Amino acid sequence: MEKSTPPPPYSKDDGKALQDWFRVMRDERPVHQDPATGAWMVLRYADVVAASLDHATYSSELWRAYPAEWGKGDAWGEGRLTEMDPPKHRLLRAVIGKAFTNRTVAGLAPEIEATVERLLDATDGRTEIDVARDLADPLPVMVIAELIGLPFEDRELLRGWADRLLSFEVGDLAGEDLVKAIDAAGAELLAYLREHYRLRRAAPKDDLFSRLVTAEVEGERLTEETVVNLGKLLLIGGHATTACSLASLVFELLRHPDALTAVRQDADLIPAAIEESVRYRPAVVNSLRLTTRETELGDVTIPAGQFVSLSALSANHDERQFDAPERFDIHRQHNQHVGFGQGVHYCLGAPLARTEIRIALSALLRRFPVLERTDGPLQYYRNPSIAGLRSFPVAVGRG
Ligand code: HEM
Repeated sequence: MEKSTPPPPYSKDDGKALQDWFRVMRDERPVHQDPATGAWMVLRYADVVAASLDHATYSSELWRAYPAEWGKGDAWGEGRLTEMDPPKHRLLRAVIGKAFTNRTVAGLAPEIEATVERLLDATDGRTEIDVARDLADPLPVMVIAELIGLPFEDRELLRGWADRLLSFEVGDLAGEDLVKAIDAAGAELLAYLREHYRLRRAAPKDDLFSRLVTAEVEGERLTEETVVNLGKLLLIGGHATTACSLASLVFELLRHPDALTAVRQDADLIPAAIEESVRYRPAVVNSLRLTTRETELGDVTIPAGQFVSLSALSANHDERQFDAPERFDIHRQHNQHVGFGQGVHYCLGAPLARTEIRIALSALLRRFPVLERTDGPLQYYRNPSIAGLRSFPVAVGRG
């Protein structure tokens, strides 16, 4: 097998060729520089965890390496939480964490249930549904809009921006036109959030956006730029990730009839099934970091100022960490996967995502005693860091 060129991540074999390639590479070159991108690929679980925990060496401030003409901006002032290191990261994360508690998430459950029921009602009378387009894709934006406090009727607008920013699918555009279309979507979304920022400043409500507008860090209010970028991060970070994870879970359950029967019979198994699916098919396949100094990882020396790609997709299938990692096993013990990240940037939305996926899967199973794959074509996200289904037709029966 040619070791310097991996096969395409998502192919007709459901990613088996890529996992075969990862297995060989984890043995032979677990840390290596990808000739195509120049980034250092980190493939073993222990190395991915070690690098994720060492934020002083593996910085999230990637913008430091961007060409000057891109305008590096100020991640702190602009509220770009994912692109910050401690101690500033800790300060901002504490603010949003305070507004985004387990209680807030638990309080959203009735609204999530109602939203799921509405989406499934819309499929009434059909013998085939698209798990991605009818349920997984529309749900997260509706939930995040509710959480942030944005009007329900704007949900299609928000989903359109989130899609355009993440899916890299903007009609048939390519190259510079595609970049322009993505930039335009980002600018439109920010202008929309600015409008809501001003409304909340004038008249705060009981929602997350109002809490961010009035929040203080070290005695100072967050700037407009910070608040709108945090809003954007939640919308973008919580949309495709959750959508892909829900669709992947249903996909694997349909491929594994025993697991499907087990979760139908015992809903208490659903949380473990969600974790196994996030391990098996992490929606965020890799996280990028920038080395701040020369460092050793495995037996390899990585110079300072290098991009490092921490592969959750490979780490979650590392046989050094997981027994029979190629097996989708909802009864797996000690499932410490890195599908939600690791370290200071561990996914802030994980409790919300788990709640959404649990409620959506429970409703799907309850409504449709029969759920089966069809021959209809599958469509995947076209984004190098996000993996999952955009279209997933399934035959349904009400028993
Ligand atoms: C199953 C669904 C999800 C998956 C697989 C996922 C995955 C991840 C991963 C891997 C990271 C770490 C990235 C890194 O280390 O660079 C992350 C961070 C983050 N996620 Fe999620 N996510 C999901 C859902 C959500 C939701 C629903 C929200 C919010 C509405 C959210 C908000 C965030 C935020 C704000 C961060 C940045 C945290 C920080 O930088 O401190 N995520 N997510």
